[in-house]
Amino acid sequence: MASKSEITARRIQELRELIVHHNHRYYDLDQPEITDAQYDAFVDELNRLEEEYPQLAKEESVSAHIGGTPSPVMGIVSFSPPVLSLNNAHNLDELQEFYIRVRQATQESSPDFTCELKIDGLSVVIRYQRGRLVQAATRGDGLHGEDVTANVERIRTIPITLNRPVTMEIRGEVYMPRSAFIALNARREREGQAVFANPRNAAAGSLRQLDPEITASRELSAFFYQIRHVDNQDSDLSQITTQYQTLEFFRELGLPVEKHFRHTEALEDIVRYVEEWEHQRHRLDYDTDGLVIKLNDLTKQAFLGETQKAPRWAVAYKFPPEEVMTEVVDIEISVGRTGVLTPTAILKPVRVAGTTVSRASLHNEDILREKDVRIGDSVFIRKAGEIIPEVVRVEKTLRPDNTTPFMFPVQCPACGSAVIRLPEEAAHRCTGGMACSQQLRESLIHFGSRDAMDIQGLGEKTVDLLLEARFVNRVDDIYRMKEQDLLTLPRFGSLSAVKLVQSIEGSKAQSLNRLIFALGMRFVGQRAALVLAERFHTMESLEQASYEDLVNIPDIGARIAGSVMTFLSQPLNQEVIRNLKDLGVNMTYLESKVPAGDRQKVLTGQSIVLTGTFQTIPRKNLEQWLAELGGKVVSSVSSRTDLVIVGEKPGSKLKKAQGINVPVVLEQEFFERMAKLGLSPPVV
Ligand code: IVH
Repeated sequence: MASKSEITARRIQELRELIVHHNHRYYDLDQPEITDAQYDAFVDELNRLEEEYPQLAKEESVSAHIGGTPSPVMGIVSFSPPVLSLNNAHNLDELQEFYIRVRQATQESSPDFTCELKIDGLSVVIRYQRGRLVQAATRGDGLHGEDVTANVERIRTIPITLNRPVTMEIRGEVYMPRSAFIALNARREREGQAVFANPRNAAAGSLRQLDPEITASRELSAFFYQIRHVDNQDSDLSQITTQYQTLEFFRELGLPVEKHFRHTEALEDIVRYVEEWEHQRHRLDYDTDGLVIKLNDLTKQAFLGETQKAPRWAVAYKFPPEEVMTEVVDIEISVGRTGVLTPTAILKPVRVAGTTVSRASLHNEDILREKDVRIGDSVFIRKAGEIIPEVVRVEKTLRPDNTTPFMFPVQCPACGSAVIRLPEEAAHRCTGGMACSQQLRESLIHFGSRDAMDIQGLGEKTVDLLLEARFVNRVDDIYRMKEQDLLTLPRFGSLSAVKLVQSIEGSKAQSLNRLIFALGMRFVGQRAALVLAERFHTMESLEQASYEDLVNIPDIGARIAGSVMTFLSQPLNQEVIRNLKDLGVNMTYLESKVPAGDRQKVLTGQSIVLTGTFQTIPRKNLEQWLAELGGKVVSSVSSRTDLVIVGEKPGSKLKKAQGINVPVVLEQEFFERMAKLGLSPPVV
């Protein structure tokens, strides 16, 4: 039988291997397999065993080297002293133990602290020389990091030049705002690219790039919190004696600092800070995974010093994990307008960060395979970027015996047509086109939507009724419907029937750009549709255009040109267009009737509500700009609201809008949409 010490030695070895493996997944690949809380549990267990059995501890424990291996392609920066990590406190008892330890070590009855939020981003070390940014590096393994100077120079909120010519090396955290993360993933998903698991991975993946242009195109930001080295000659720097002053000094220099830091004088104040931020943090536009409590006096910090891994004068209070466990009841495959098949986990409803979650997108086959989610599994759920529910991982120990790996269907679940996966895409597609009931459903909804043919009354519910009654098999059938037909539909009164028919009739006069958009060619959004309509004026000349004609138009790339050609070459689509024409749908581009000066009134008639604080421009200027674009900014959300624009820390208006299905858009995404129409906010 193995002795206790042998068993412990084996466990220590196992933990070391686990930590090395998960370090690699997290820091090098930006693809964690386990939650932060589970990782911390391994590190804590190893630390405890190494402390208990010092004879089994290696000279250099892996837990002293938390971090990734810097990639040599990026250029390596060496650190001296090493860039340390922090010890963790997981509950108030452990926090109190830290407090008592510091009190004893400093021999002070009531030492004061600075409390800060712990940003869940990517640790960076930046050197400023006489006020100029000269070097930036990731933390790497704490001794060597990657040189990311050119990339960090492209992050807008990190100043290249400080307000004063100081020479110092500082430390901070680069992060991606939640709103930017959500917009980025939405775009990547639309384009069939792999999505990032969370804002931290998105930030890491955006910063650790050989091409600084990529970093520049992603919305990254940073907060700074520590001076590592100073130029002793500098009189400004020599006056700083506390952590609190450090943060204030950073602000004076123009460096971004997380503004919710607080000076505390008693343990109760620290506890209050913890209790407040445990809840409030959900409202921020960046992820935090804890708080950092630091002895305020820098001289006393130096006196306490550090261990191999972490300073003795600070502790990270880790928030309890936000992940909750639930069961996968089913895996549903939905078919989108362009035929993309998206798997969704149907969950036993569970509360996560303030709302009940019963579905979580599994995005595509690669992600589903990697996570190996199966029907019947127990899974951990969290909200990525605080909004979108996602499956973090499967708890394999709880997996029932009879489960089988989920197989992506080879036939479309809606129409039975073959499903294909193109080699360069993450997505599977149904090949059924308009013969697929789901694609048809989504296409009809899109065709009638506000930005397309704007047919009021042709929403999801009506489309479902029309499909059930088999009144429509293709979009042109919409224009064949009569009032009498509609009256036979369940729950359809004569008023709704008259209104819908009127609205359908009215839509025949829409301009060509709307029709092109409504037809739903892949990659052809509103902007591309407008460019095509302006260029060709009639559907007929668009139909006659060659690939070269299309690809030579500024703003129309090969992808759009290819898609238009494919769409227009299919006999079924040609027939639909012919029928639409015969049924009286306008096929020409109607120059905007709005006077030239007002051409940009894209929001005319829209009732818009704002909630939260806005980063791009102050709210007042935003309101003014929306009004210039023809929108009407109103103060409260109702079913008549067309759009709610959400800034940082949104209020109850967001919940209300979500409750009554009013369209909601994040600030960043709204500005991106406007930019696509060539509209940018006023410079203020
Ligand atoms: S202090 C020696 N302050 O958390 C100083 N760290 O889990 C140690 N972090 O590696 C760092 N926000 O990357 C400090 N306000 C903050 C922080 C912070 C985030 C990160 C940092 C560190 C990790 C430790």
